[in-house]
Amino acid sequence: MDLQSQIDKTKLPRHIAVIMDGNGRWAKQHGKMRIFGHRNGVKAVRETTEAAAELGVKYLTLYAFSTENWGRPAEEVNALMTLLVATIRKELKTLTKNNIRLEAIGDIKNLPPKCYKELKEAIELTKHHTRMTLVLALNYSARWEIMQAVKNIAADVKAGKTDVETLEETHFEQQLNTHGMPDPELMIRTSGETRISNFLLWQIAYAELYFTPVFWPDFRKDDLYKAILNFQQRERRFGKTSEQVTS
Ligand code: IPE
Ligand code: IPE
Ligand code: MG
Repeated sequence: MDLQSQIDKTKLPRHIAVIMDGNGRWAKQHGKMRIFGHRNGVKAVRETTEAAAELGVKYLTLYAFSTENWGRPAEEVNALMTLLVATIRKELKTLTKNNIRLEAIGDIKNLPPKCYKELKEAIELTKHHTRMTLVLALNYSARWEIMQAVKNIAADVKAGKTDVETLEETHFEQQLNTHGMPDPELMIRTSGETRISNFLLWQIAYAELYFTPVFWPDFRKDDLYKAILNFQQRERRFGKTSEQVTS
C-alpha cells in the first residue's frame, strides 16, 4: 500500500511547520553554488504544499528566511530575495487554482521593498481562499516575535487598557504573528540538524518534532507522508499518563 493511503485522514495534524534546511549542502554535493540549492528547494516547496493541501492539512508554515540569515554573504542574501519575489509571482496562479491562502509571519516590513510588495499583493489576492493556509516565515525569529508581543502588552498596560492581574496566555497569543492559527502539532526539520533555530518557540510548546536526514531540495510528497505517519504513531499525553489518554 502506498504511503498516502496509510495515513488516517481523521487524525491529521491541523498545522505542520517545516524548517527547510540543507539547500547549501545539497548544492555542494552536486558540485554547485549554494544558490543552486535554494533554486532546487522551490520544487520541494511546491510538492509539500500540494501534498499537504490534498490531504486536508489546514495550515502549513515554511521557515524560508530567518532574522539570523541576514548574516550570510550579501550575494547569497540577494539571490534568496530575488528567488523569493520570482517564486511568489510564479506560484500565485497555482495557489489560486488550488484555493490556497498565502500568509506571512516575521518582520516582513523590513524585507527589501520589492519582496514586501510582492508578498503583500499575493496575500491580498489569495485572502479569500479556504482550502489551506500557506504561511511563509520571512525575516522571522521567534524571539523577535515574542519581544513584539511583550512590547505591545506593556504599552497596553501603560495606557491602562490591560490589567496585569487578569493577563492570560490567550492575550499573549493574540499579539503573536500567528494569532488565529492553531499551534503546529508537527514540526519537521530536514537535513539532519536537530535544533529549532529560533522558530516558533512559543507555538511549539507541545508539537511533535520530526527530524529527517533528507536535504530540503530532495524532500518530496512521500517524505511528508512519512513524517505524518510517524506523527500518527505517537501517543500525545500532554502531561497525563498513558492510561489516561488511551481510556
Ligand atoms: C536552508 O538551507 C535555506 C535557508 C536557510 C534560507 P541552508 O542554506 O541553510 O543549507 P545548509 O544548511 O547550508 O546546507
Ligand atoms: C534555519 O536554517 C532557518 C531557515 C530554514 C530559514 P539555518 O540553516 O539558517 O539554521 P542554523 O543557523 O544552521 O541553525
Ligand atoms: Mg542551514
